[in-house]
Formats: sequence, C-alpha cells, structure tokens
Amino acid sequence: MKGLILSGGKGTRLYPLTYTRAKQLIPVANKPVLVRVIEAIREAGVREIGIVVGHTAPEIRSALGDGAQWDVSLTYIQQDSPDGLAHAVKISREFLRDDPFVMFLGDNVIQGGISQLIRDFASSDWHSQIVLKEVENPSAYGVAKLRADGSIEQLIEKPADPPSNLALVGIYMFDRHVFEAVEKIKPSARGEYEITDAIQWLVDHGCRVFPHVHRGWWIDTGKPTDMLDANSYVLEEIEPSIAECAEIDNRSLVDARVTLQAGARIINSVLRGPTIIGKDSVVENSYIGPFTSIYHGCQISNCEIERSIILENSRVCDIDATLRDSLIGRNAAINRSAGKPTGTKMNLGDHSSIWV
Ligand code: G1P
Repeated sequence: MKGLILSGGKGTRLYPLTYTRAKQLIPVANKPVLVRVIEAIREAGVREIGIVVGHTAPEIRSALGDGAQWDVSLTYIQQDSPDGLAHAVKISREFLRDDPFVMFLGDNVIQGGISQLIRDFASSDWHSQIVLKEVENPSAYGVAKLRADGSIEQLIEKPADPPSNLALVGIYMFDRHVFEAVEKIKPSARGEYEITDAIQWLVDHGCRVFPHVHRGWWIDTGKPTDMLDANSYVLEEIEPSIAECAEIDNRSLVDARVTLQAGARIINSVLRGPTIIGKDSVVENSYIGPFTSIYHGCQISNCEIERSIILENSRVCDIDATLRDSLIGRNAAINRSAGKPTGTKMNLGDHSSIWV
C-alpha cells in the first residue's frame, strides 16, 4: 500500500495567510495540517508516500524534506496546472505503479485517523473505498446517493440540487483500476478532472466501491472558520503535556488541559485548556482561554485571547478588548497605540479582515 497526498491548490479562501504560505502548512494545534496527514498515513503502516505539489512546491519541500523526520519516504510529484484530483492521480502513475493506495487531501483533518479504514480495505476485495460524512451544505462537496442496501447509486461533484447530505471526505482508497477511470473521464463544468467522476466510472463499470460513512468529525480546512474549528477539535484530542524546560511562575494558573512546548514561559497569567503555547513563546499578565494555539516565538502580554490561532513570532500586547475567534499570521504585531491623536491604526495586508 502506498500513500498519495494532494497538496497543490492556491488556498484563496485563506488569503492573506496563503499569499505567503501553502495552506497545508498552516498549523492546527501547533502542527501543520500536512504533517498531521503524513502522521495519519504512517500510523496506518504506510511509509511510501507521494506528494502532489503545485506552485507552493519549494515551500512544501523545504518544510518536509525527504520525510525521514516522520519515518516515511516522500516522493514529490509536480502538478503544473490545477487540473483536478483525478489528474493528480494520472500524473502519479509512475510513483504508484500497480500498488493499491490511499489518497488523502492535504488540507483535510479527520477524527480517529485512517488505520481501521486501511485495514478494512486491505482485507477486502473492493476496488475502491470512499469515505462519506453527513454535512449541512452538501452542494460544496462531492455527494453520494446510496441505495437502501447501502451500495452507491450515484456520485456527483458539487451538485446544485444534492440528492443526499452525504459528502465525499477527502480520503479515498483505490487499486489499479482507477488508472483506467482517470483516463476515460472528461473535464467537469469547472474545467477539472474530478475524482468523483472517476469513482462514478468505476461504479458504472462493475468495480466494487465501498462507501464508509464516518461518524466522527471531519474538516476540510478551506476557510478561516474551518481552521478555528479544526484547531478546537484537535486541541480536545491531544494529550496535554508541559515540556521540561517550560516555565510557569508561581503567580500563574495553568489548568490540566494546557500544553506548553519547550522554552514556553508563563508569567502572572491564567491559561485555560485545551490550549497550546509553542516553543519559546512568552505569555505575561494575560489570560489565554480555551481552544487557543499560540505558535512558536510569540510574545503575548497584557491581553486576553480565546479560541484563536496565532502563528509564529507574532506579538499581541496591551490590548483592552478580548481577541476572540481570530487567525493571526506570522510576524504580525497587535499593539496599543501610544501618543496622540488616539484611534485605531491599521497596517493590513491585501485581503485582510478585521472586526472592531
Ligand atoms: C474536493 C472534491 C470533493 C470533496 C472535497 C473534500 O473538493 O472534489 O468531491 O468532497 O474535496 O474536501 P475541492 O476541495 O476541490 O472543492
């Protein structure tokens, strides 16, 4: 069994963060989503992984290298134009050869990992396994209609009038039959070779495609609110820990669900978990509430933050209002304005949003 992670895409709905960073490298609970995907595949015992990359290839390569750090072997496969998920499979043929594989979208986060799914697939005679999840807005996804006996009747990509509320999760398993399917399908209305159409082709040509309905949470991290939701879910799941070289002074209150990474320093502050504070970050005279991830090298002083993600080397200092439901990029600074005239000053990047 091999792994194939799709990590192209522009991430436009996460502008401005994705002007300067591949969206799959944005951390959730202080670990990039792409690293969570690699770990989920490795936990299922799959070590040979191909990563399909687009224009953010250099950044992804420099973050992941050859994968040795995660005890996997990574092969990069360049997709020069965003021609769809089925096209990504097509160009990965040389890497995949005739081996069965699991394909995982590099911006998806799912509860409980995929080990059981891979075991089920490996011990079956299915040609493909797909994962479905009930959602409130099926039109935003590929959608499956099942028959009364649970078999697949129809799969449609982003239907205006969805036949069910079962969305295709970005995790798929295939054997070599998929290569014929991706050759036979035509581009969709949005001009992409859709993996949903390739799976429909498999169904139409007598292949056994098993639909697994996932009952836990699943997030396709397209928008800032998705990142915050994924962050909350993952923070709830991780085992809290305090690194040996983290420091908490005796005026601080840090509850049992807080994780402090190496070199984090907490001074005269209250921290309520689940929350994580990254390497060498300093929190001083502040309150950090539940569901917050402060990444490495941040300085937080004289302020209150809840349910937010703050990326590396940012500063949030001397703010009266509670910062809530916020996603702050790298090397950002939020300060109190000194001097007159008073007022709110902003120096925002393109496509930034603030709510005052
Ligand atoms: C892709 C697939 C869609 C699937 C979704 C899951 O959509 O085309 O079928 O439901 O991933 O994340 P896209 O992210 O390209 O809009």
